[in-house]
Amino acid sequence: MQIPDSFFGSLTVEQFLSEYWQKKPLLVRGAWSGFDNPLPPAAFLKLSEREDAMSRLMVQHEGEHNWELDEGPFEASRFTNMPDSHWTLLIQEVDRLVPAVRDMLGVVDFLPKWRLDDIMISYAANGGGVGAHIDNYDVFLLQAHGRRRWQINTSPVQDEVLIEDIDVSILADFEADRDWVLEPGDMLYLPPRIAHYGVAEGECMTFSIGCRAPSKKDVLGAILEQALMDADPDDRYADPLLGQDASIAGLGEDVVAWAAGALKEFTADREALRDMLGTILSQPRRWVDEDTLPQDTLAEALAAGGRVRPGSSSQVLMEEGEGGSLKLFAAGEVIEVDGVFRPKLEKLILDSGLTNEDLGDIPEFDDLLDELYGQGTLMVDH
Ligand code: SIN
Ligand code: CO
Repeated sequence: MQIPDSFFGSLTVEQFLSEYWQKKPLLVRGAWSGFDNPLPPAAFLKLSEREDAMSRLMVQHEGEHNWELDEGPFEASRFTNMPDSHWTLLIQEVDRLVPAVRDMLGVVDFLPKWRLDDIMISYAANGGGVGAHIDNYDVFLLQAHGRRRWQINTSPVQDEVLIEDIDVSILADFEADRDWVLEPGDMLYLPPRIAHYGVAEGECMTFSIGCRAPSKKDVLGAILEQALMDADPDDRYADPLLGQDASIAGLGEDVVAWAAGALKEFTADREALRDMLGTILSQPRRWVDEDTLPQDTLAEALAAGGRVRPGSSSQVLMEEGEGGSLKLFAAGEVIEVDGVFRPKLEKLILDSGLTNEDLGDIPEFDDLLDELYGQGTLMVDH
């Protein structure tokens, strides 16, 4: 997969980041000129037969707000009798499933790995789309095949009102202030909460390179859960001031200060907090089913060629450790490793992955990789 030198036309990455990223939409004509779709429509429809593909089929029937939503996997015969128009097949995490699609993430290699979510791909028959909606994260919508008309409203939606009693999240009122038809290779960047409405003009495919923005609520919940597990049940309140100026009718200040201290103590240890975040943010979107874990060793899997790489972008992260060591966050685990692993880990995480030739000279490194492969954290592409 040939990654274009620039994804932002005449803008540099720095200009894009300072003027548009998280701020305002950007349409780039010919962002990926000469884009060669690695997954043409027939191959894409076939992908939805796979158990491990997260596929959804949305059909828009006649009548107002008459949507039908179905979850995959889908049998091949499902697509032989579809209407000529007004339906969409969407598959999430296609970067996990198709190496050439995963390579496309190279186009956003200026973003931290943990901020990337997945590449979702849609195929739509003429008139197909998923309705006007907002997403809570930044997205790069790359037109991969055919034409799609995108209408957007450039003012972020504060409190969305959705159409009631339907299975899909569609804005009840949407008014566009921009309107474009995208051709293959064109890209529309949208910051979070920009209302958008895409409709296929003829059959088309759109690749959504989506980011992650964890909610404070989710992250706090996960951190507190871990804090609860670590907390000493015998560490209790004690009140040295009782009898002096303690409040009899109410709580008084002491217990409030004690609770505040407990929370502060917990966040004061930045390294512990970093480890917790690494644990939370490197977790896969869904855990691999035990039955589908590889039965071979990594050496066996790579013997016939191919390369090993993280299952998804945020699943293996690397940080500086103490005294020249490195710290890995791998699918929710914190692992201290030797600094000599660095070039290989960089190739694994930031580059194209590792081949057989990268293994064999550091046995401890090979063991680590083999373990991560056995757990489904790493995958082998052929
Ligand atoms: C689509 O591809 O149909 C929808 C993508 C999106 O709106 O994020
Ligand atoms: Co969207």
